[in-house]
Amino acid sequence: MLKSLRNQLVIAIGVVVSLFAILQGVSSYQFCVAGMSAVLDLRMEQVASRLRAGFAEGIPTFPARGSQDARDIFIVIWKDGETQPVRSTEASLRLPRDAATGFTSPVVNGEGWRLYTGRESDQTIQVAQRLSVRHEIEEAAATKTLWPIIVLIPLVWIAVIVVVSRSLRELNRLGNEAQVIDVNHLHALPLAGVPTELLPFIRSINRMIERLGRSIESERKFISDAAHELRTPLTALQLQADNLQRDIVPSNQESFRALQGGITRSSNLISQLLRLARADAPPVGESMARATESVDIPAAVVSAISDVLPIAMQRGIDIGADEMASASVRAAGLDVATVIKNLVSNAVRYTPDGGKIDLSTRVQNATVDIEVKDTGPGVDETLLPRVFDRFFRANTEIEGSGLGLSIVKAIVTRYGGTVTLRNRSDGQSGIVATVSFLIDPNKAA
Ligand SMILES: Nc1ncnc2c1ncn2[C@@H]1O[C@H](COP(=O)(O)OP(=O)(O)OP(=O)(O)O)[C@@H](O)[C@H]1O
Ligand SMILES: [Mg+2]
Repeated sequence: MLKSLRNQLVIAIGVVVSLFAILQGVSSYQFCVAGMSAVLDLRMEQVASRLRAGFAEGIPTFPARGSQDARDIFIVIWKDGETQPVRSTEASLRLPRDAATGFTSPVVNGEGWRLYTGRESDQTIQVAQRLSVRHEIEEAAATKTLWPIIVLIPLVWIAVIVVVSRSLRELNRLGNEAQVIDVNHLHALPLAGVPTELLPFIRSINRMIERLGRSIESERKFISDAAHELRTPLTALQLQADNLQRDIVPSNQESFRALQGGITRSSNLISQLLRLARADAPPVGESMARATESVDIPAAVVSAISDVLPIAMQRGIDIGADEMASASVRAAGLDVATVIKNLVSNAVRYTPDGGKIDLSTRVQNATVDIEVKDTGPGVDETLLPRVFDRFFRANTEIEGSGLGLSIVKAIVTRYGGTVTLRNRSDGQSGIVATVSFLIDPNKAA
């Protein structure tokens, strides 16, 4: 949780402010208790001085027991030469007559008291109050000083969370923008609204994206150029080999066929590399918009089936279409044809003789799904996630370049679609390959 910058800032600022508030609370509480105690002392001192100034007549000479409220101030007046108090507000209260002059805190009748003793030539005036009552008064006053802090601490936390979250919102937005950056969507992060402290960081990320884009582009160009350059000599080689066939002596025919096979495999690899380079090229706005057309999906499926029909019939594979919902997608016709052709050619290639291949198209909300289902051996579940990797082949017994599904993925991603490959779940072995394209909004039913 503390890996989050937001949480770190919120907790650090919140804890520091709370600690300050608690310290402030404790000190103002203590200050208030001490102040209140001084005020209560002053009051007792004032009562004593009034009594000295002749107000003692109001204090009873024979007080009743327990007539005074426990919270009151108690008064006892002693005259020199008398053993009993001459005046007292409470008969049962035995204050220590010999207590030191000024303030003391004696224990009387098992209770703590605050006692003020004033001495004159012929009399001793004692004013007392229970310590428990004083504490109650002091605490009540001091607690009131804590209210602003009790209310303030949660408010400060809320303010810190709001301020920190607002400051980091820009960072979250940049994070989301950066998350969608991949080989096919390389774009600079926007600088508008970015806090000044983050600008150098975002600028260097943008420079890195630019460098990455250039190196990916030059890699793509290299693959495409190399494939182009290789295609011409390979075609010439194939032609020369075909011309030579007549002159090969029967004992060399087998080696010669192996040589021809090698040339064919190399040509296929070069063709797949070229298709991949084309599929990988970033969508170049204008030219892409011009190259796209409304492609009828059922027609593309039928065309892919008719391409492989001769070889399927030769191998006794029953290939056909069942459910065929009509839909069109906005794309380059060649791209859609390449996608379907690669999936169908996989199904034909990996399904044993006498198998069955079903194609279907289904419309779901804004997308059209094209499904190719075969009765082949399927793919080991552990290898399934890698089938879209370049040059990855799950089955090395059957020839292939391992690029077909990478080409499909690259094309489908360019158009914002998806492709999945899974083993059949209806008890039979086989693969279900599904591509989803967005339906052409102009042709939607
Ligand atoms: N329908 C399928 N049934 C069984 N395995 C499949 C199927 N489709 C793909 N695979 C496995 O996935 C691997 C990758 O497929 P991909 O189409 O990318 O390459 P490839 O068929 O080997 O070569 P390429 O298509 O480039 O000629 C294949 O080698 C194969 O092992
Ligand atoms: Mg393939």
